[in-house]
Amino acid sequence: MALERTLSIIKPDATRRNLTGKIAAKFEDAGLRIVASKRIQMTPAQAGVFYEVHKERPFYGELCEFMASGPVVVQVLEGEGAIAKNREVMGATNPKDAAPGTVRADFAESVGENSVHGSDAPETAAVEIAFFFSGLELVG
Ligand code: TYD
Repeated sequence: MALERTLSIIKPDATRRNLTGKIAAKFEDAGLRIVASKRIQMTPAQAGVFYEVHKERPFYGELCEFMASGPVVVQVLEGEGAIAKNREVMGATNPKDAAPGTVRADFAESVGENSVHGSDAPETAAVEIAFFFSGLELVG
């Protein structure tokens, strides 16, 4: 399996409940290395650009408002098969469907406020990492 990097976001519902460390520990326990990390707050317009692929979906407006409603922690995770591994650690989009022990099973409040984002493919990972980080900020 190839060494990959993926973009993770710890969402506002999780930072609000002071869960950043508990979530990051799940990434590290799964063998993912946090090679970049910062806490920021987006504007709704910035969140809108990030989630542009969803702009025709009915939940888009609410999603952008939610993502801008508080701080987020954006991180680059590195490891063998990091993209799929992170999606496994995250669990299903709807916490009701998420496997026990996953971030969303343990912490997510609803399908909309579901604690974490993770890139879903190598192409999106590259675009999403570049959206938040410059090369200088990635330290493996
Ligand atoms: P999606 O890319 O389908 O899920 P994932 O985050 O697991 O890759 O959706 C992106 C986000 O959009 C999701 O994390 C939360 C929000 N969302 C809703 O608010 N309602 C919905 O019905 C869906 C499918 C997603």
